[in-house]
Amino acid sequence: MVPMKSSITTFASYISIILLLLNLVACETEIEGRENECKKRWIYIRKLPPRFNLDLLGKCSEYPLLEDFCPYLANHGLGQKTHNRSHSWYRTDPLMLELIFHRRMLEYPCLTQDPFSADAVYLPYYATLDALRYLYGPEVNSSADHGLELFDFLQDDEPSIWNRRNGHDHFLVMARPAWDFSQPLDNDPPLWGTSFLELPELFNLTALTLESRAWPWQEHAVPYPTSFHPPNLGLLESWVQRVRRSKRSALALFVGGGGVSATPNIRRSIRSECDNSTSNSTDVGGGYEKLCEVVDCSNGVCEHDPLRFMRPMLQASFCLQPPGDTPTRRSTFDSIIAGCIPVFFEDLSARSQYGWHLPDNEFDGFSVFIAKEDVVFKGLRILDVLRRIPRSRVRRMREKVMELIPRVVYRKHNSSPGLRAKKDAFDIAVDGTLDKIQSRLKELVSPL
Ligand SMILES: *[C@@H]1O[C@H](CO)[C@@H](O)[C@H](O)[C@H]1NC(C)=O
Ligand SMILES: *[C@@H]1O[C@H](CO)[C@@H](O)[C@H](O)[C@H]1NC(C)=O
Ligand SMILES: *[C@@H]1O[C@H](CO)[C@@H](O)[C@H](O)[C@H]1NC(C)=O
Ligand SMILES: *[C@@H]1O[C@H](CO)[C@@H](O)[C@H](O)[C@H]1NC(C)=O
Ligand SMILES: *[C@@H]1O[C@H](CO)[C@@H](O)[C@H](O)[C@H]1NC(C)=O
Repeated sequence: MVPMKSSITTFASYISIILLLLNLVACETEIEGRENECKKRWIYIRKLPPRFNLDLLGKCSEYPLLEDFCPYLANHGLGQKTHNRSHSWYRTDPLMLELIFHRRMLEYPCLTQDPFSADAVYLPYYATLDALRYLYGPEVNSSADHGLELFDFLQDDEPSIWNRRNGHDHFLVMARPAWDFSQPLDNDPPLWGTSFLELPELFNLTALTLESRAWPWQEHAVPYPTSFHPPNLGLLESWVQRVRRSKRSALALFVGGGGVSATPNIRRSIRSECDNSTSNSTDVGGGYEKLCEVVDCSNGVCEHDPLRFMRPMLQASFCLQPPGDTPTRRSTFDSIIAGCIPVFFEDLSARSQYGWHLPDNEFDGFSVFIAKEDVVFKGLRILDVLRRIPRSRVRRMREKVMELIPRVVYRKHNSSPGLRAKKDAFDIAVDGTLDKIQSRLKELVSPL
């Protein structure tokens, strides 16, 4: 039963993407009136054979080490709705950003059919889905090859498109941390990840990843998709109103797993501090009913069930965002959507990552920074730090967080014109990419 339903969903996704591609050609003439709006912003979508994108969707149940991801393909990668009557909430898997982005690119207003007048070339390659055969499948020992097939195609098929600017104007989305694609080419046997971002052949292209390396070069981080994808301005605004009105009964919230190992680490400190604070309920103060709450998401139980964590996030003032396997977390963006002020423990968790979406000079206004070393090794109490922040300042910070909501939302495809007038995470990522490509090309013409 279940596999059958999944393949129907998959098939429906294919068909609608294909229909869209056809439609697009029909709309070509509309583009003419846009010369001004689109100056320096023209994007050409490179035509790739289906083995680089649509065919990969059909393999959604082929990886025994992974759970079947077929259900997450629904609604062009937004996943299934949380409830039948929900308009904005989906069971979104962040891995699907490649699909979500592709779908949104099809309605980008400055598409051109002429690769030689484009300012950037988008590769609709589902890099992460293609990487699964190296990460979890039979090709684990040839993970240094990831990307070569794509490069060969770009060289063999209309090579003039790549050669025009040596690939410096090409970009793609990779819906995982860059770490997963940066394995040195000479690791034998491979440890973890593919070498896509280490291949000299691909150095020139720009990759949008969920997390960039500490010294980024060809990649830039974009927000993890959350579960909130409003289709119109009214639904976005009514959500923000709900966030504003929500009663914050807990000072701090930690949503996540881990923290149970014996070695000192920030997650363990958080768990221990939270557990202690609940066993000691005297004098919470500040209008809060409790100091700290934990939503245990071990074993992935929260991943496709946003209700589990969105409600608690709506009811807490601060959301603790410790690093996990890697420094960044999807939860950072869930907490922003809920108006819960993020608390970071290292700069790599967000500040040095998402500069396009979360401007560096605004961090102190919307987030709290507590160095993890001070907590883990010097006994600094997180809850003491947060309790000392005056309530008026907490309110101002929450307002700043709410101002960020439209910037980190990936709105639903085909949304209303009112909502399209606001830049969302996709629009900001495209702007950032175009600027990055432009400045790269300038550097090449006149190196410093
Ligand atoms: C949701 O809609 C589908 C199809 O319309 C239906 O089969 C299903 O029972 C509905 N689920 C709920 C919880 O109402
Ligand atoms: C990969 O290489 C390792 C070590 O050489 C070997 O044990 C393993 O069986 C290989 N895996 C596959 C899928 O070929
Ligand atoms: C990358 O760009 C440099 C400088 O423009 C160029 O020399 C090189 O050939 C390019 N690499 C590829 C694979 O196109
Ligand atoms: C929590 O309480 C235990 C026992 O009183 C204590 O050893 C530990 O240091 C406390 N942890 C924190 C982070 O306060
Ligand atoms: C319990 O709370 C009081 C007041 O907030 C604090 O002084 C005390 O250190 C706490 N005890 C523990 C074990 O955390």
